[in-house]
Amino acid sequence: MKFLAIETSCDDTSVAIVDSSRNVLGMKTLSQSEHARFGGVMPEVASRHHENSILEASLATLEMANLSVNNVDAVCVASNPGLIGSLLVGISFAHGISLALNVPLIEVNHIESHAISAVINNENLDPPFVSLVVSGGHTSVIDVENFTKYKTYFHTIDDAVGEVLDKVAREMGIPYPGGATLDSMALQGDRNFFKMPRPKISNFSFSGIKTWAIEIVKRLGQNHINDLASSLVFGISEYVSDYALKIAKELGRKQICTGGGVAASKVLRKVLSKKCAENDINLFFPDTRYCQDNAAMIGIRGMFF
Ligand code: KG4
Ligand code: ZN
Repeated sequence: MKFLAIETSCDDTSVAIVDSSRNVLGMKTLSQSEHARFGGVMPEVASRHHENSILEASLATLEMANLSVNNVDAVCVASNPGLIGSLLVGISFAHGISLALNVPLIEVNHIESHAISAVINNENLDPPFVSLVVSGGHTSVIDVENFTKYKTYFHTIDDAVGEVLDKVAREMGIPYPGGATLDSMALQGDRNFFKMPRPKISNFSFSGIKTWAIEIVKRLGQNHINDLASSLVFGISEYVSDYALKIAKELGRKQICTGGGVAASKVLRKVLSKKCAENDINLFFPDTRYCQDNAAMIGIRGMFF
């Protein structure tokens, strides 16, 4: 079967075609650079951009896959969570195709899709596994018992990890989204120069960490900027990795996956790899193009409806 998948939950317009053997036959992601000047995603701008890009992304994907729309057997679309105006563009478009072709429409949860995105480029990977989802909008530890059974053990009660990195980066004068730049700076600094405070609650919370870092930037400006990036990115990576490991150990899972934009972080990959190796747990990452918001993961999640 061939699944046409659509992702428009935030600021990436992405369309993919995946088959039932988990192959990605084509994918086109049109990212929106317009938000940089606002220092964050502007919902109204995002919706209008999706509206202008969705047909272009769909046609490019079909061409890449060398298929016609009549070869599509089902349509999958990210329906929750996300910016409502943005989601509605994808959902309406998906409904239109499904009605016109008389094929099923499958609505998919965006976070569950991030949680299983590592299976796209890791052919032999199957649940059960614990997944650490870290992005600009979400921070969760989810147990994936099988492709249809998901249980969230931790989630952020305030900011998401990527959001903190982007906001601290903005205070440092780095253009939005600054997560990847901060990640590179972190590898050049001294991670022990500052000590990041870790919240003493039994869930994820990042707003105190964000305030701590922003206050230091306000006080020191560009002094020790790499050291601060290092303490922050290593500190956050240790924090989220420890929570993922805790659940994997409690449930006896021998595999951990990551997903979301921050899963591309070199620092996180380094920290989590070390902890998994020490605990005899196999670790899987998505390819970087499947870390950011993308439609391939929506198609993979959708095929297990
Ligand atoms: O998954 P994503 O594309 O969108 C959301 O669902 O939020 O994630 C975007 C986030 C941004 O906060 C961005 O700064 C962060 O992922 N990010 C990174 C890296 N690449 C993107 N953070 C750390 N290291 C990276 N290499
Ligand atoms: Zn996302």
